[in-house]
Amino acid sequence: MSDISSLVEARFDPQRHNKYATLMAAGNGYLGIRATHEEGYTTQTRGMFLAGLYHRAGEEEPRELVNLPDVVGMHIEIDGEIVNLLAGKLLSYRRELRFATGELRREAVWESVSGQRYTLLCERFLSRHNNALFCQRISITPHNSECCINIATGIDATQTNAGRQHLDETQVRVFDQQTMQAIYRTRSKDAHVAITCACLVSPRAQVSFSAKNRRLQQHSFCELKPGETLTLDKYCLIERWLDGEVPKEAGQTSLAQLSACMEQGYEALLGASAAVWQAWWRQCRVTVQSATQGDQRALDFALYHLAAMTPVHDERSSIGAKGLTGEGYKGHVFWDTEVFLLPVHLYTQPEIARQLLRYRWLNLAGAHNKAQQNGFAGALFPWESGRTGEEETPAWAAINIRTGLRQKVASALAEHHLVADIAWAVVAYYQATGDDAFMAKEGVELLRETARFWLSRATEVDGALELHDVIGPDEYTEHVNNNAYTNYLACYNVAMARHFSKRFAKPDEAFSSQLDDFLARLRLPQPRPDGVIPQDDTFFSKPTIDLTRYKANAGSQSILLDYSRAEVNEMQILKQADVVMLLYMLPWLYGEPVLRANLAYYEPRTIHDSSLSKAIHGIVAARCHEPEQAYRFWREGCQIDLGDAPHSSDDGIHAAASGAIWLGAVQGFAGVVAMQDELHINPALPKAWTSVAFPCCWRGRKLYLTLTHQQLSVESDGPVMLHVCGKAVEVDGRADFFIPASGSGTSQEGI
Ligand code: BGC
Repeated sequence: MSDISSLVEARFDPQRHNKYATLMAAGNGYLGIRATHEEGYTTQTRGMFLAGLYHRAGEEEPRELVNLPDVVGMHIEIDGEIVNLLAGKLLSYRRELRFATGELRREAVWESVSGQRYTLLCERFLSRHNNALFCQRISITPHNSECCINIATGIDATQTNAGRQHLDETQVRVFDQQTMQAIYRTRSKDAHVAITCACLVSPRAQVSFSAKNRRLQQHSFCELKPGETLTLDKYCLIERWLDGEVPKEAGQTSLAQLSACMEQGYEALLGASAAVWQAWWRQCRVTVQSATQGDQRALDFALYHLAAMTPVHDERSSIGAKGLTGEGYKGHVFWDTEVFLLPVHLYTQPEIARQLLRYRWLNLAGAHNKAQQNGFAGALFPWESGRTGEEETPAWAAINIRTGLRQKVASALAEHHLVADIAWAVVAYYQATGDDAFMAKEGVELLRETARFWLSRATEVDGALELHDVIGPDEYTEHVNNNAYTNYLACYNVAMARHFSKRFAKPDEAFSSQLDDFLARLRLPQPRPDGVIPQDDTFFSKPTIDLTRYKANAGSQSILLDYSRAEVNEMQILKQADVVMLLYMLPWLYGEPVLRANLAYYEPRTIHDSSLSKAIHGIVAARCHEPEQAYRFWREGCQIDLGDAPHSSDDGIHAAASGAIWLGAVQGFAGVVAMQDELHINPALPKAWTSVAFPCCWRGRKLYLTLTHQQLSVESDGPVMLHVCGKAVEVDGRADFFIPASGSGTSQEGI
């Protein structure tokens, strides 16, 4: 898999320190480490995050993913001059993240203020073989003079989450004049972190240690001749105990573990980690032949980050909206996980999709509490979730500095579609795997408890049931009645609870008839004669404005500089896909004419201020056999993190947008879509793509699909039924299919 691409930063640009710290972050699902430079720059925000380690720094503060003590930073002095690439002259610079191995390499030739030249090489990786292990290597070679080098590095616990300190230092030690160890406890005392690290320097250096003001450091001093290279290898183990586990021997076994790692050495440890990456790439990679430079890189980037953010080691953790790459959204988990990330796993490693659903199931108690506190029955999952399953959405938005007032965040109170999104993912998982054991236990309980919520959420109006005062996916339109997305998804949720209860739950006549009644009476906004479905009861009555200016700055929420939220609410302005999102989620609901009508109506009214928007428009366009339009959306979606905007990814990756890069390729262009129990393939490749190929799991079979404009080749490890361009076919082994030029429709009406 040597052709897996890299992400290259060709220029040292302080404006983009945080962007690249995010984009090039290391991750293995257990730990995430931002790609900040070894040297300190005031512009960069360091970050190291452990999946599931949340804490509240004060009663008035939200619970957040703890930004851990830093291990990356190094203070380097050469002949008394501090190494800082902003001083002196930078003669060459290149940084590269190799997606194939997760290795980050930076090479620079720097001339100090006093005119001496040095080559600096910095390498690092976070192991996928041993999740707790992070290794760094820095090599310095003077070009033209002898020099004395001082490097101070260790564990720096002055790191905070934007000033909020979560950890108390409980123990700081140096063992055998070599290994530094610091143990921390969250202030609420229910989680512990042990960081153990050691540095090996060659040629031999004079070494001393210091512990002061929450910094435990090794100071290494070495003299070099011109052309000679100093190499410092730093090995760190980062371990944690969560949920009130009391570590009896926190850190004790780490000393032996670390010295075993050091014996193996940097290269061997990198090799072991790279082998895990390579096996994983074989299972998941999408390869594309495209005339547009960067398409393959976008797909590799997306999958790299999907692996980096997914806590496969721990079913009590899920995936935050920024993965493990930054402090954004406080590390909280949104519907992004079930709708944008889980499907990627479902079709590549279905056991991970199952685990993500178990995370919700294990947090049912929190969802029951939230429902009760709000006067509802069943399970109302938190809009933002952490480890406990309690609602983590901050109650208040950022302060208005002119008035000193804060506005309430309404999502936790009314953005209830998340409940049905989780149910949707349960059904998607079952349809793709046929996992009866899961459905019999976790699946049916999730479906029934979420359905119970909808029964209690409905309001009776003239004999019909309506869902009032909700926020759909479009967060620029708040507190509306009968948001189409919410009503249809709630209906699907209840219908699926009814369907699967028959087979997987004890008979309960009273509950079944309540479900039937809900299904018979729930109001589902119908398409107008022109096919457009009203987003909610009042949407069509609102005025429109020209959004060109705001659409040009999609993602920046610049509309809110000109209009208050209340004013935006009273216009036909969408932050993100809403009815279009609905048509994406339930593709069997309406045929192509309705898809086209809604895309045409809503897209001009959508600013795409959410990173969850463009890719979905792209997939719906592909399903309308408009591959060029779809491709434009997909390319724009790829730019959300990979584009040139200097600051849009500063506080973390857009996890959902990474998932959407895969969704766009597989569900959009390749047209792979689960229609209830059937897997349909209706390709619509853009002109720029000659071919696309990817693995895909379906009902226990491993498939490999290769698509060109004319042909689909399927390899399957056993017999499987597929629907290729509308025709049912059985594939066992290998089969090739001719793709008709116009593709073909797939719709079967009804929920
Ligand atoms: C979007 C939500 C999304 C959240 C986290 C918001 O801007 O409107 O749909 O869940 O970001 O990504």
